[in-house]
Amino acid sequence: MIDYQETALLFHLKAKRFSYILQILDNKLLVHRYFGKRVEHFSPDNKITYLDRAFSPNPTSKDRTFSLDTLPLEYSSNGLGDFRTSAIEVTCEKGTALDLRYQAHRMYKGKPALSGLPASFGDEDQVETLEIDLYDELTDVTVTLFYSIFEEANYLTRSAVIKTGSQAVKLEKALSMTLDLPHKQFMVHTLTGRYGYEKEWTKTPLTQGKYSVGSIRGASSHSRTPFIALADPIATEEQGDIYTAQLVYSGNFTAFVETTALQTTRLGIGLNDEKFRWQLAANDSFQTPEALLSFTPNGFTGLTWDSQHFARHHIARGKWAHKERPILINNWEATYFHFTENKIVELAQSARDAGIELFVLDDGWFGKRNSDTCSLGDWVENRDKLPSGLSGLARKINELGMAFGLWFEPEMVSEDSDLYRAHPDWVIQIKGRSHTYSREQLVLDLSKEEVCDYLIESVSAILQSANIAYVKWDMNRNITNIPEYQANHQKNEFYHRYMLGLYRVLETLNKRFPEVLFESCSGGGGRNDLGMLYYMPQAWASDNTDAIGRLSIQEGTGLIFPSISVGAHVSAVPNHQTGRVTPLSTRGNVAMLGNLGYELDLHALPEHKITEITEQVKTYKSIRQTVQFGDYYRLKKTDNTYAYNYVNDDKSQVVFTFVKILSQPEAPLVQVKLRGLDASAQYYSKELDATFYGDELMNIGLTMPHVQKDYFSVQYIFHKQ
Ligand code: DGJ
Repeated sequence: MIDYQETALLFHLKAKRFSYILQILDNKLLVHRYFGKRVEHFSPDNKITYLDRAFSPNPTSKDRTFSLDTLPLEYSSNGLGDFRTSAIEVTCEKGTALDLRYQAHRMYKGKPALSGLPASFGDEDQVETLEIDLYDELTDVTVTLFYSIFEEANYLTRSAVIKTGSQAVKLEKALSMTLDLPHKQFMVHTLTGRYGYEKEWTKTPLTQGKYSVGSIRGASSHSRTPFIALADPIATEEQGDIYTAQLVYSGNFTAFVETTALQTTRLGIGLNDEKFRWQLAANDSFQTPEALLSFTPNGFTGLTWDSQHFARHHIARGKWAHKERPILINNWEATYFHFTENKIVELAQSARDAGIELFVLDDGWFGKRNSDTCSLGDWVENRDKLPSGLSGLARKINELGMAFGLWFEPEMVSEDSDLYRAHPDWVIQIKGRSHTYSREQLVLDLSKEEVCDYLIESVSAILQSANIAYVKWDMNRNITNIPEYQANHQKNEFYHRYMLGLYRVLETLNKRFPEVLFESCSGGGGRNDLGMLYYMPQAWASDNTDAIGRLSIQEGTGLIFPSISVGAHVSAVPNHQTGRVTPLSTRGNVAMLGNLGYELDLHALPEHKITEITEQVKTYKSIRQTVQFGDYYRLKKTDNTYAYNYVNDDKSQVVFTFVKILSQPEAPLVQVKLRGLDASAQYYSKELDATFYGDELMNIGLTMPHVQKDYFSVQYIFHKQ
């Protein structure tokens, strides 16, 4: 996977579909030589072209053609000639610039873990690592760049460790990676949005200047995702060059792309420096989060498959990573805070009768929590609501033949809670300034060890007290009111220290409860990122449960996240977020594009709706393997229609879904071509009671029914004959 040409000091990292080439120049500067379609060879005769560029400063008066400003660099600081967005900034007695020069390198099979942070992993036959030490003599700072190449999975990971020597240094910025590409004709793809409208696939033409997305909310957020892709502007689903950068991190981040006057492009991703500082003592070190890089010549389907596959095999961990997920019912939209034990058991009974496998008790089971104004932090069952306690309730649910799951929001505290009354100093706050509220709640200070220990023990106590098979880990506000100093740490260390605390809590709980299936949530997809996926292999994609609203949310989420991780529920109508009334069939068909669940009062539904839901559950069980582990294809899309198909490993089952949003007068017929089938095989669909050839479905396609109804959808399941 890594070719090393010693005389030219060239490192050629080879993935299945791309090459990534680095070189150490004679003056020991580390430069980037190539990232793109895989090549087998790179000759040492392939030299950098040096030109004298006006106003590009030169490190030596002897050579006007040599400038940091014009070289493709791998990890650069400002101050000595490079005027582009830097990867690292420090301040210390010796000034602010770093002149990083090659000192040593190491190559080995496998990949080290990142201390305290989520990161990708792989066996020695899947990944090889290159470490390069860069050293700045004046400040005695060493930056070790880590490159791990996953050949088969088509991914390169990058991170940096910054080590001090004899002097203390303040880190002002430490990105996980920057990279210089030699041209600038790109369409920039990001996932943006807002609460209830997460992960909108956003396309922005790259022009002169800089485009960036990021968060300073203390979470990756509803509105931004730690992901950026640079695509050939004419890339399609099937072809076109696309570069992607992602960050395995859940807190403040930045992802940017910057073009230069000389028409090169710098891409970078890492911790957001706007709210980041880190004081390093002498002989200290700092580990950046991990960046993921990939390149595909195979268009957006190539991007999606590589990303989904990598997330499934090299980020998500534990017993559930490769296991079919249970179909769940969640009581949130069915009852909100107003439930009794009897009501819950009744709901579970109806769900069990419909074939649903897991009951999730959402918010409201603890303390005096009958509204969202109190009790966060008091993780003690409410015996008024649950006379048999959690263990009794779990037993009753288990006796029905269902697993039992529970909602938590451990990072938060209500002012009206025993926890706050006992530990008012545990919240994030600025002494002398009043709190800033959001949903009337405050955030616990996870940069404090004792707070994290409390969370570990209080959540553990509940998980040990009853047979709990699943946890929904929620987080319903963003972080404000950062104190000036926190136990001798500088103010802007706070956000990262919070994340390190949270990751320690999650790691400990993962280890203590390896059987539990964790689902992350932050008011839906407010922290749906690869950092969380490392601890929790599925995520509640959005609080917006409207089938039509879900189409773009799930499509954006599915651009990079595996379908198995996308929590998708059927809810009641009129929909609680949009007021829209959609047919149950469409709600089912859309939710079946992800990890299916239900979130409505089944008990209150008429018999024929229960029968329909029972059929949906049965159907999903028959296609679950294909949807959760198969290949996902986006098909023809218009402003008014969405279409997808999933294909299982041996192409014997194909799940096709089409949704039309609005009925239109004299609407043209819609023809949709399927993808990924066995061309010569025959496929039978029970829904159509018809058989077609694979090549026919892929090249001629199917004509969608001409139905004059809003929110119409179909699901056809094809079986190879
Ligand atoms: C926000 C979540 O996204 C919802 O699903 C629900 O769990 C509520 N929080 C409960 O407060």
